[in-house]
This record gives sequence, structure tokens and C-alpha cells, in this order.
Amino acid sequence: MSRTVGFWKWWNNALPHRMHIKRHVPKFLSTCPDSVRGAVLELGAGHGWTSQTILETFPYVELTCVEVDESAQEVFSELQDTYGKRLAIQKADIRSLPFDRESFDVVIAINTIGYIEDSEVAFVLQEALRVLKKGALLGISDGTIATMPSRAKRMLVEKIVLEEGCELEYVKKGLRFSLWARKSGVDSEL
Ligand SMILES: C[S@@+](CC[C@H](N)C(=O)[O-])C[C@H]1O[C@@H](n2cnc3c(N)ncnc32)[C@H](O)[C@@H]1O
Repeated sequence: MSRTVGFWKWWNNALPHRMHIKRHVPKFLSTCPDSVRGAVLELGAGHGWTSQTILETFPYVELTCVEVDESAQEVFSELQDTYGKRLAIQKADIRSLPFDRESFDVVIAINTIGYIEDSEVAFVLQEALRVLKKGALLGISDGTIATMPSRAKRMLVEKIVLEEGCELEYVKKGLRFSLWARKSGVDSEL
């Protein structure tokens, strides 16, 4: 099961986490092989710190955030005062996403896969790829103290996306783990 209790709720809004987002997330987003625009999905949006960074970095993005924690609704309704229709929040479990297949131009999970038990990582990645358009990018980055992925988990993520037919376009190994994986196929609307 996912971990969404006590410490983790505190951590999502804590100063070290916010400092990490400020330093690390723009760097990760800058490694995206494509220009990021259109319908973007963020998995596990927490307190919205990464969401704000995505919206500030990419002016042509409409961001949908999925978060299982009820308290995110309140945070996000405040953020919607700033970002209006560019930002939507959906309370849902990322293991079973409430979206049609091939709905999104980019799917991003930052500091979220580290939360997911190894036995459930495949469900999450398969769901992420189901709702992603063909030929589009899935971005994953983990690396705060709280979500540092084990070597085994990093290898598991790579193995699953390759098994699902993706091409790895960017991989950064080490304590901070990041990757961009391109879903196979070509979007029929292009
Ligand atoms: C460390 S936070 C990261 C938040 C945000 N991405 C950031 O970088 O600030 C991970 C979030 O994933 C959420 N989460 C964990 N398991 C989930 C699941 N199965 N479905 C939806 N959200 C989940 C947690 O509630 C938590 O808010």
C-alpha cells in the first residue's frame, strides 16, 4: 500500500522538501527531450509545490494533478485562484486512473514512485502509460531524503518501462534518479 500518513503529510510541506523542489525540479524538467506543452498529468501531487513549478516553467501547459490525500483539495483550490483553468485536481489512486487511454501529452511523477511499494510499481507505470498518448513522454524523478529510491527500485522502474515497449531517452542514475521514457507508437492526431 502507499504511505500517506503522519510524517509524509508533514514532509510534503516541510522546508527541506520545498528547498529540494526549488533546486531539483527545474533541473529535471530542463532535461525533458521535448518541449512540454498541452495536457500534462502529475501523479501524486502532494502539496502542489511541484505542480506550481511545472506551471511556472511551462506556460502552455494545462496540468491535471492526481492525489489520493483528501487534504490536497483545499491546497489546490487555493492554487486554482492563481492558475485558473490551467490547473485541475482529481482525488484518485494512481494505480487506477480515472482517465481515458491516450489522454495526456506528458505524464510526470516527481517524488512519488519512491512512495510506492515495489510490488505495485508496475500497476502505477502501466496506468501512466495507458493514459499517455503514443510517442509521448513519461517523466519520473525521485530523490528527496523521504523518497530516495533503492537501487532495486530504480532497476525495477527501468525494467518495467522497457517491458512496456518504451524507449529510454534520458536516465540519470545515482542518489537522485530521473528518467524520461517515450511510449512507443505515433499519435494519430499528429
Ligand atoms: C512525496 S509526495 C510528492 C508530492 C509532489 N510530487 C512533490 O514533489 O512535491 C508523494 C505524494 O504521492 C501521493 N501518493 C502516494 N501513493 C499514492 C497513490 N496510490 N495514489 C495517489 N497518490 C499517491 C502521496 O499522498 C503524496 O502526496
